Amino acid sequence: MPPPPLATQGLPWHTEVDDAVGAIADARREHGDTFAVSHGRDHYLFTFSPAGVETFYGLKEEVASKGVADYLMLRRKLPDDLFDGRRTLPGTLFRKDDVALYLAHLETALDATLAEMGPSGEVDVFDLTRRLGHRMGLASWAGTAAASGEAFERLVAAFDALDGSDAFVHPDAMAAVAASGKAAEVAALEEVVDVVGPLPADDGLFGRVHAAWADEPDDAARRRGIGLDVALLHIASMSNLHAALGWALVDLVSHPAALERLRAGDPDHAARCALESTRLAQRSIMARSVLAPVSFSDGTTTYDVPPGWTIATLLPLLNTSAAPGLADWDPDRWDRHRLRPVDGLASPQLVTAFGHGRHTCPAQPFSLAAMSTAMTRLVGAYDLEPRWTSYPAPVAAQIGGVARAGGPVPIRYTRR
Ligand code: HEM
Repeated sequence: MPPPPLATQGLPWHTEVDDAVGAIADARREHGDTFAVSHGRDHYLFTFSPAGVETFYGLKEEVASKGVADYLMLRRKLPDDLFDGRRTLPGTLFRKDDVALYLAHLETALDATLAEMGPSGEVDVFDLTRRLGHRMGLASWAGTAAASGEAFERLVAAFDALDGSDAFVHPDAMAAVAASGKAAEVAALEEVVDVVGPLPADDGLFGRVHAAWADEPDDAARRRGIGLDVALLHIASMSNLHAALGWALVDLVSHPAALERLRAGDPDHAARCALESTRLAQRSIMARSVLAPVSFSDGTTTYDVPPGWTIATLLPLLNTSAAPGLADWDPDRWDRHRLRPVDGLASPQLVTAFGHGRHTCPAQPFSLAAMSTAMTRLVGAYDLEPRWTSYPAPVAAQIGGVARAGGPVPIRYTRR
């Protein structure tokens, strides 16, 4: 079996790259839809062909692991302690009754947000949605006491320093994080443990976290375990949701007819808008760490990929260009969570907001409901006037997750 063509381009963890997605786009132009990027002992096989992407989503976790790939990415930013001995994992957050409770916390968080905003003012869209995400998330997995007053402000500061998504939003900063021995992150993690450890259990998810640690006889160890479980849950929730909501608001105010339709009260339309903005804002690198030798077919060639390699694809090089017309914002291209047939699209798996196959985001229904509720409340309460002069650009170095804005995105609001 032939080796894949080797691109000279680098990834931002290996070398200085101004535009991480652009570098992989250049490699694809030079080498076609499947190629390798290597640096030292780190090897990536990128694939973009319809069959290659379908093979990618069909890979088995035991052979090519998303969990390991995520861990290898996040540990560039997060202290090892965080991963050691967790008893409540992010994959267990979305049982049916949980979602109703999180959405109730969202309503309370929106009450607090509107109170903070007052009758009129100016705010950065992404600052607003990030703070809202903290408030809803912390109430949901650390109890309501974590979502107000001094505890909330301390946790916001700690989680902003401890943000695991920095590993893919600012990959160029990870060498400095390593050089510091993750000092800021270690301190922030201790702050989370100090604040969350003593908070009272509730009958929601925080109660489950407490129950998971109930058999730990040592008080300090129990509180620490609870604090670290909550830290991992909250960091997982910070990867995408607040950013996706930011783009959904940006797109809504850029499309007044869609905004009016939402104000008229059409929840399905709101969810389609949320999905469409998320699709367009996707910068995700989808990665699988190869654990056992795997034959990987891209439809033309089969490659033998050895353990230690990473197989990957990159959504921003597919989502808006895999067929004509996909660069436009059009919520009606979605039929509930499914993309309607698109002329010229070789495989429906070439386009996604929440993933395909076994690793599809377990938080999709919750996230779309939360975004719809937040959008509806905010545009119902305020007239919004964008203060940006051209459509906001994403962080250029970002390679993963939903785009973060590369600069300020101010918006003026006046109560209706
Ligand atoms: C708009 C918001 C969100 C978007 C766009 C999103 C997107 C995604 C995508 C694309 C994947 C699949 C990645 C892959 O196949 O490699 C995924 C998986 C996952 N997401 Fe989300 N996500 C969102 C919100 C959330 C939230 C709020 C949470 C948790 C609090 C969450 C937890 C997870 C988990 C645990 C997985 C892994 C599932 C598995 O490995 O089987 N997501 N997400």
